[in-house]
Amino acid sequence: MHDQLASLYPQHLATLRERADRALALGDFDHLVITAGTPLRKFLDDQDYPFVVSPHFKHWLPLTDAPGSWIVYTSGNKPRLIFLQPRDYWHVVPQAPHGYWVEHFDIVIVRNAAEAVAQLPAGQRAVIAADCPATEGVEANNPQAVLDYLHWHRSYKTPYELALMREASRIGARAHRAAEAAFRSGRSEFGIHLTYLAAARQTDAELPYSSIVGLNEHGAVLHYTNFDRVPPVHSRSFLIDAGANAAGYASDITRTYASPQAAEFQALIDSVDAAQQGFVAKVRAGQSYPELHIHAHHVLAGVLREHGFIRMSAESAVESGVSSAFFPHGLGHPIGLQVHDVAGFQQNEHGGSIARPVGHPYLRMTRVLEAGMVVTIEPGLYFIDMLLAELRDKPFASDIDWARVDSFRQYGGIRIEDDVVCTDGAPENLTRDAFAQHG
Ligand code: GLY
Ligand code: MN
Ligand code: MN
Repeated sequence: MHDQLASLYPQHLATLRERADRALALGDFDHLVITAGTPLRKFLDDQDYPFVVSPHFKHWLPLTDAPGSWIVYTSGNKPRLIFLQPRDYWHVVPQAPHGYWVEHFDIVIVRNAAEAVAQLPAGQRAVIAADCPATEGVEANNPQAVLDYLHWHRSYKTPYELALMREASRIGARAHRAAEAAFRSGRSEFGIHLTYLAAARQTDAELPYSSIVGLNEHGAVLHYTNFDRVPPVHSRSFLIDAGANAAGYASDITRTYASPQAAEFQALIDSVDAAQQGFVAKVRAGQSYPELHIHAHHVLAGVLREHGFIRMSAESAVESGVSSAFFPHGLGHPIGLQVHDVAGFQQNEHGGSIARPVGHPYLRMTRVLEAGMVVTIEPGLYFIDMLLAELRDKPFASDIDWARVDSFRQYGGIRIEDDVVCTDGAPENLTRDAFAQHG
């Protein structure tokens, strides 16, 4: 892995430099200045929230724990890293830079924020930063034209980035296997969560997002993060949406399992799984993502009909909004340095926004797929009390088999989520490949 990253990194950096050259030229800037950021201080406290590095910073190098550090890039020059290593005997200070990327930077080590700021160049600067103490005395301007350009091109992953995303998927798949075993042995949600963290060898704060670990009815809460400490009497079903982090790159993986006694639910999982693999197969250059999302509604409405939940045609289930009551979120989103990566709606490298299809307010990706993009494909079917109650009052409620619907509430819901690379040919399914490696 290390050798592979070492050999891919120079090209990654060259690509970032080219993008930065063009972005800077858009606003006549001399320097791109990016802060890693600093942790937020808790109110009236002497402790901080967990540090989350700026995605712009970790795009350039695999450093996720360097609060108060800066990257400076000036067209034509080797990039500089102003690395903050405070004198501090209370905490573990960030390790001195080491590894395959170090030779590609001019590195200055500083001991405090003021020294860091003093190292920043004068001239026309595009300063990419959230407001935080590290930027004291430095005005962040976050020029829109620069951000739009960089965000647009961030959609096209370099081979180095794809290598890291494969690694994030491998870590996630390994931990998902352990979580499934914990479910099958009757552990609580909290117990499964701890099993997942241990197998991933990552802390909660290191994960790209809070894990969703739901048994039985809890699978119907899209972002369920409660972690019941006590196992239910019967663990009938299990939905886990949990990812992992590799040098700042995310995986985002969901699996749904049924107990051996829940054969009817397993049959529904199998249908959603087959549908999901069909959608993944359509992750091809030129495919409109919103059209794929609408296609998913039709296929899932067909699954609802096949399994006896609805009597209407798939077409009328989609038109009437019935499919949205069972599948109330988007098919997926771009993923990379952030689990919900930037530019999912962007029109072109100069900004703009492509609207969502009417009636689909939660879709996070409206672009046409192109080679190099990575997106999630995460269809689901859920039995959500609130949305089902709304359906009951509608004129077509008589076309729904409520007894059958009610009998599935005990399972919560199904989501199956893979991270998929769009290529010039067949899609690369990072998630399924990773599960295959973990037997
Ligand atoms: N885990 C958040 C999502 O699937 O988008
Ligand atoms: Mn997702
Ligand atoms: Mn997810």
